[in-house]
Amino acid sequence: MQLFQLLVLMCFACIFIQANSDISKFPSLISVQVIVRHGDREPDEDFRNPLGELTNNGKKRMYDFGIFLRGKYGKFLNYITSSKSVSILSSDTGRTIESGLLIGLGLSEVTVQKSKFDEGNLYVPFPVRTIPAEIDDFIKTSRICPRFQKLLDESIENYVNDFVERNRRYFTKFAPATGHWIILNKTANSDKINFFVFYQEQAIYNATMGSPLDEVALEAVVNPDLAFKPGYDALRVDSVEKQRLYLGPLFRQLTNTFLAEDKKKLNIYSAHDRVMYTFMLTLGVWQDPKETPPYGSALSVELHETFSGETYLEWWYKNDTGSYLLEIPGCGKPCFFSQFIYQFDQIISGDNDIECQLL
Ligand SMILES: *[C@@H]1O[C@H](CO)[C@@H](O)[C@H](O)[C@H]1NC(C)=O
Ligand SMILES: *[C@@H]1O[C@H](CO)[C@@H](O)[C@H](O)[C@H]1NC(C)=O
Ligand SMILES: *[C@@H]1O[C@H](CO)[C@@H](O)[C@H](O)[C@H]1NC(C)=O
Repeated sequence: MQLFQLLVLMCFACIFIQANSDISKFPSLISVQVIVRHGDREPDEDFRNPLGELTNNGKKRMYDFGIFLRGKYGKFLNYITSSKSVSILSSDTGRTIESGLLIGLGLSEVTVQKSKFDEGNLYVPFPVRTIPAEIDDFIKTSRICPRFQKLLDESIENYVNDFVERNRRYFTKFAPATGHWIILNKTANSDKINFFVFYQEQAIYNATMGSPLDEVALEAVVNPDLAFKPGYDALRVDSVEKQRLYLGPLFRQLTNTFLAEDKKKLNIYSAHDRVMYTFMLTLGVWQDPKETPPYGSALSVELHETFSGETYLEWWYKNDTGSYLLEIPGCGKPCFFSQFIYQFDQIISGDNDIECQLL
């Protein structure tokens, strides 16, 4: 072959490679899983009757999140959002199912527009599947696990008493203002805190909606020492045993989804802050000890393949401020999938059916 011809050929090859890598922004992306917290909601009616429906802001936030996902993964999905390549799985509550539907709408908007013309104005919703609360052990984690409940009850008692003691000045104002004297009773069980938690949730909601607050309500919103939830939810994962009992099923869900032969490209879990927060604590990537994940925040994990065929994980956290690439302590850069499984083996390899019954 003449040198000239060879050069031309090589150049074609280099243009071809160049063009190919431009075609897809994610040449090595194989599959993505996204855990997202539902949108802004109303406060719960009470502890046994959690209604907490999405507000209009919350609806818009979830629709916008669908559009965000479309922007980030549209190319990867070849702009086809069918249930062959995408799944949306929700916990069995109104706010998460509605969030899932709105994400699906934002994600598939262009497809929906097209089918409107094709099918004569039929709205084509994206299917959102859900798991009944009694057997949900990884989205809402509402399945009952007696062993875990026992461990948790033991730690809650101390946490609640410490919390009230630390904030005694506040609670001596709160009790007469609300009539809930029981909160000052040191021997009453930890349920005594429920009224305060419910009250604080309402106060925060009222503050966001611009309603006036009385003095004890205002302090419950602005005083960082009165942040109850982050420390309370953290009790769920403060030992390896609790992590395994509480989050083992989620760890297995995520790893098995990536290990499956016929995996979907995009898997969305419409979930709650508690599971996202405890999961991020366990991974070692949660930043703010006074907060839990805000409405519509999302934790994504992407499975990538290197040129030599090894797979690694990329973790992303998205909130109102931006999208952040996370580093799992101890997993390295890149965080190889095999290393991740090895590192969290004590959590992943549990058997909840057996361990939950050990009392
Ligand atoms: C405090 O709570 C305990 C346990 O519920 C109860 O027996 C006791 O009477 C309460 N004390 C006061 C002063 O209300
Ligand atoms: C919140 O607002 C509602 C309705 O305005 C009111 O009934 C409730 O007492 C308020 N709660 C708090 C804690 O401020
Ligand atoms: C969003 O998350 C980043 C990373 O954890 C954090 O630094 C930032 O403060 C968060 N933004 C808000 C508004 O909380």
